[in-house]
This record gives sequence, C-alpha cells and structure tokens, in this order.
Amino acid sequence: MECSMAETYDILVIGGGPGGYNCAIRAGQLGLKVGCIETRKTLGGTCLNVGCIPSKALLHATEMLETAEKHFDGMGITTGKIGFDLGKMMAAKEKTVSGLTDGIKYLFKKNKVDHIEGFGKIIDAQTVDVDGKTYKTKNIVIATGSEVATLPGIEIDETRIVSSTGALELKEVPKKLLVIGGGVIGLELGSVWRRLGAEVTVVEYLDHIMPGMDGEVQKQALRIFKKQKMKFELGRKVTGIDNSKKSGLKVQTEASAGGSPKDIDADVVLVCIGRRPFTDNLGLDGVGVATDKRGFIETDHYKTSVPGIFAVGDCTVGPMLAHKAEDEGVAAAEIIAGKAGHVNYDVIPGVVYTAPEIASVGKTEEDLKAAGVPYKKGKFPFSANSRARANHATDGFVKILAHAETDEILGVHMIGAHVGDLIAEVCVAMEFRAASEDIARTCHAHPTITEAVRQAAMDVEGWTMQM
Ligand code: FAD
Ligand code: NAI
Repeated sequence: MECSMAETYDILVIGGGPGGYNCAIRAGQLGLKVGCIETRKTLGGTCLNVGCIPSKALLHATEMLETAEKHFDGMGITTGKIGFDLGKMMAAKEKTVSGLTDGIKYLFKKNKVDHIEGFGKIIDAQTVDVDGKTYKTKNIVIATGSEVATLPGIEIDETRIVSSTGALELKEVPKKLLVIGGGVIGLELGSVWRRLGAEVTVVEYLDHIMPGMDGEVQKQALRIFKKQKMKFELGRKVTGIDNSKKSGLKVQTEASAGGSPKDIDADVVLVCIGRRPFTDNLGLDGVGVATDKRGFIETDHYKTSVPGIFAVGDCTVGPMLAHKAEDEGVAAAEIIAGKAGHVNYDVIPGVVYTAPEIASVGKTEEDLKAAGVPYKKGKFPFSANSRARANHATDGFVKILAHAETDEILGVHMIGAHVGDLIAEVCVAMEFRAASEDIARTCHAHPTITEAVRQAAMDVEGWTMQM
C-alpha cells in the first residue's frame, strides 16, 4: 500500500455530493486543509449527476412542451404542430449536468480543496485508504449519500426495470410505464414520461400518495394528477414482474393487505420505493462507527460514535434532500473549525416539482393534532389570486398553520404554480420565528402570486380581502 505521509489533512471528506462538496468548500473557506474523495468521475453526487438536476431539466422541458400543446391555444397563441426530439432533450439535460459538475471542480480549485479521485475506505479515525493510497487526516466527514432501495425478487436492469437513474435516460418513450411507489420520484418522473406520451400507472402501497405530506395537499394533488390522466392503484403492492417475454412486462400486484391479485401490463417499470444509506465497503464496522437498524449513521451534531469521524447528508437520519445535506456539510465544517455550526431542522422545506408544484415546511395539521398543539389555520386558493388567473394557473392553495395562542407560524403547505419558490418567504419568516400576522402585514407586490401567501396569513385571523 502506497503511503503519502506528506499529506496530513485537517478534514478528509468522503463523497462529493451536496453534503460532501459543501463541507469541503466551507472548510477551504475557513482556511482548513481539506480533501474530498469521490469515486464517481464527476463531482456533485446523486443530486447533480442522477437526481435533482437532470430530473428538473426534464421536468422543465416537458412542462414547457405540455404548456405549448395544451395551454397556448387558450391564451391566443398559435403555433405549428408541437413536437419534441427526445435525443436533443436528453442532450440539453446532459449539458446542464456537465456545466454544473464542472462548476464544482472550479469551486474546489478556488477554495483550495484537493479533489481526490477514487473510493475511500476508513482505516482508522486518522487514516483513509483511496484505491491503495493512504491519506492522513485529523478529521473525517462521511458524506457517502444513498442509493435506490430495491424490492425482493425484482432485479433492476436499468433498461426495462429501471431506478430513477435509468428513468432519466430512457432511449424512447414507453407506451406503458408502471411506477412502483407514489412518492416524490414516482410523481416527478411519472409526470415527465406522461407528458411525453406514456400511459403512466402508479402502484402505491398506502391508500394515499406522498406519505408525510399535509393531508389536504395529498388529496388535491391526487385529484389533479388523475385529471392529468395519471392512473393510480392505491393500497396495492407489486409481488413480482414477469419479464420472460422479449417485449412487454407483466406486473403482478395484490392488495396491500393481501388478496385481490391483478396483473398490469407495462413496457417499463420504474422502482422508486425510497432510498437507503450507502456505506458499503466504507470500513464502518472496522472503526466502530454506529449505525441504526436501517443502516443510517447515528450522529449527534454530526459527530459519529467515533471521535474525529463526522457524518452528514443522506447517509444519516432525516429527510433525504440536497439542501439538508448541504446545510449539514457546512455546519460540520464549521464545528470542526471551532465555530457554532447549526441547522434548524424545524425549517427544512420540501418541494415536489410536478405541475402544479407542491411545497411544504414545518408541521402538518396531522402532526399538530397528534401532538395536541392548539393551532389556527389560514387558507387561500390560487383561483382567487389575480396573477394566477392572468397566468391561467389557478389550481391549488396556500395553507398556513399558526399557534393558537402565540400566532407563531408552525407549518405552511402549498400546491400551485411556482410554490417551490414561494416557500422561501415563509422559511425566512419561520427562521425568525415570525407570527402569521407578520406576513399578513408585510406589503407584497401586486399582482403577484406571493399575495396568496399574504392572504392565507390574513385568513388566519379571518380578514382575507382578495376575491
Ligand atoms: P449524494 O449526493 O448521494 O453523494 C454521495 C457521493 O458519495 C456520491 O457521488 C458517491 O459516488 C460518493 N461515494 C459514496 N461512497 C464513496 C466512497 N466510499 N468513496 C468515495 N466516494 C463515495 N433532493 C432535493 O433536495 N431536491 C430535488 O429536487 C431532488 N431530486 C432528486 C431526484 C432524484 C431522481 C433523486 C434520486 C434524488 C433527488 N433528491 C433531491 C435527493 C438528493 O439527490 C439527495 O438528498 C442528495 O444528493 C444527498 O446528498 P449527499 O451528499 O448526502 O449524497
Ligand atoms: P419516497 O419515500 O418519496 O416514496 C416512496 C413511496 O413508495 C412511498 O409512497 C411508499 O409508501 C411507497 N412504497 C414503498 N414500498 C412500496 C411497495 N413495496 N409497493 C408500492 N409502494 C411502495 O421515495 P422515492 O420517491 O423513491 O424518493 C427517494 C428520496 O429521494 C426521497 O426521500 C426524496 O426525499 C428524494 N427526492 C426528493 C425530490 C425532491 O425533493 N423534489 C425528488 C426526488 C427524490
């Protein structure tokens, strides 16, 4: 084993995704000697390479396509026949991805982060092996992310039975796409292929989609997706897939509680039933880093059970979101540098980038009821917002939940066009522990869809004014 003793780092980060690269860059900014080990050819992790960015590129392109096909006419815009070139669409997505992954390389150089290419294995709290070369460090930050969860007996081949990675690069539009799991990936990538012409059926184990989201949002979203001609088989599970025929798959399903078997034909099956932490061959057992029973690394302020070893992002407990990983990476670097790194877990927004978008932060009504917290509710529909009407985008609503006595905003749930951007306003308000009245009395520009947030806040005290 080759040993490079000259290189003693302050921090070695394992994984170059949002958790890892933000940690490394922040450490560089703070003057620490830092290296970031990444096994993939490009930096950016799941998010940039096979997650957030390519999926949003396809969601944007296909949303524009559907707008042109279905909504231009109603706005008096005439065009020739609208079509698409899947190859070009995929190439545009790849260009966006490579531009951004190269951008991280540039940020590494700018902030003096060493990019170490290869697979990292922890030997002890001060030593990491990268493909046979040994690196010494004072601290290790594990940011190895997650990988797709699989179903027993169903083998992902990334051509006919795909994970999100395969679904981001199908060579042609499947006639019938069956999606296993009505969560975020199923709805986003299901929307992409539906807009391109696939008949999409979502098989979801539970009797509702998007578990954990606000109940009213779940119901309205389901209604809208059904109107868009996405089919749903709720309360049903996939028990097997017959792929013995050269073309066409037979997907065997039954009711979640058992019984009522039903076969569904598909050309492509997308498996998206969640993700699991990825810590394979990392050497965790050898150094004694504790994990929970689902394999997530246990942490306390990003410190693992082994002094000098930290962990952030998808491989730790909590929502598997890029911005959560990012903030944790920054906080870990700051803590190692002797600063007060901090993440406010009460204010981590979640956005589903379908059309309409779905956005949420803080507690749901179901959470508050279960915890016995007294709350007031304000709600405002986009159909009563002048800008939404001018934009022909009136589906959805904003709902604000505030403490019944203190008026502090406890949760906000929205469905509608651009709500993924609108949620930032309430995140800032919640970070400052604002009352709903603070938003209600803040002047919002007219006519904007942001006024729907203000009107929902006004509705908490029953003085909403727009029609
Ligand atoms: P990752 O991004 O998974 O990065 C970990 C990196 O570590 C990987 O590059 C891996 O190659 C590397 N690695 C692992 N082990 C080793 C090792 N031993 N040595 C060297 N390198 C190693 N989140 C959002 O917030 N918004 C979205 O819109 C969104 N869309 C998504 C769409 C899809 C299809 C998917 C799959 C995910 C999406 N996510 C989204 C989730 C988001 O991608 C993750 O939460 C985020 O990437 C987690 O960051 P991370 O740094 O913890 O891990
Ligand atoms: P998910 O957890 O969002 O949804 C999985 C769904 O599959 C759930 O509804 C679950 O009930 C269902 N399910 C589980 N087992 C099943 C079975 N055997 N049969 C049928 N249904 C079953 O997971 P998903 O969609 O795979 O996404 C993984 C992660 O990626 C999520 O945690 C999410 O945070 C992240 N992500 C975030 C995005 C965003 O922020 N916009 C976009 C895409 C992914």
